[in-house]
Amino acid sequence: MNMLASGVSTYADELIPLVPDFQKWCDTVVCAPFALLAEALWVFRDSEVGVGAQNMSEHESGAYTGEVSGAQLADLGAEYVIIGHSERRELYGETDASVNKKVLAAIGASLRPIICVGESLKQREIGVTYDVVSMQVKAALYGVEADSLMRTVIAYEPIWAIGTGMTATPEDAQDVCCEIRSVICALYGEQASSAVPILYGGSMNDKNAFELLARPDIDGGLIGGASLKPAAFAAIINAANQ
Ligand code: PGA
Repeated sequence: MNMLASGVSTYADELIPLVPDFQKWCDTVVCAPFALLAEALWVFRDSEVGVGAQNMSEHESGAYTGEVSGAQLADLGAEYVIIGHSERRELYGETDASVNKKVLAAIGASLRPIICVGESLKQREIGVTYDVVSMQVKAALYGVEADSLMRTVIAYEPIWAIGTGMTATPEDAQDVCCEIRSVICALYGEQASSAVPILYGGSMNDKNAFELLARPDIDGGLIGGASLKPAAFAAIINAANQ
């Protein structure tokens, strides 16, 4: 919930020249709050930067005052939507079941869901990280057909690392991303599991991105704080493109 519409074009004007080749190895997507989506779609219209939302309703349409449907997002021109961010799970009562409904609704609206999973500090301390994350992935993908799986993106975001400056070590992030890939492999087979992008998120920045992104099962990043600064975000995109 950062920035106002007046800041969006300045942001794009600063970011775009700093990235020589947006799509060399990675896709770049900016996920904006609903109120800034139209502006973001406009300023990035001639660039290779995709635009997504940060949330959507699990319902198709109807009497859900204040909610925004997947069809409305797709109609605006959004391509992606973040689903189940830990802040929404913690602050707004989103559960694995509601995340699953939103994932299915996003796919139904031809959006690409970026599905967030991740353990709390307590869960890591008591040694249930893999159990928590595998359950979240399985629940989120329940009922997702194999051909739609290719349209999903999984973001592993340990809750304790989000916005705290405490990044997971590249080894720990790699281990959990690898576990996520094996969960997907068990559900959909090896080819599908290698095709689904798995991102790491949680205090990724211009200093640590290269090392994290060099790990075999970390295909990209879900960047929060650092993405608000065009120079830092550009450095991360350029690290992903190496
Ligand atoms: P951060 O946020 O990069 O600031 O830790 C990540 C996120 O909000 O998903």
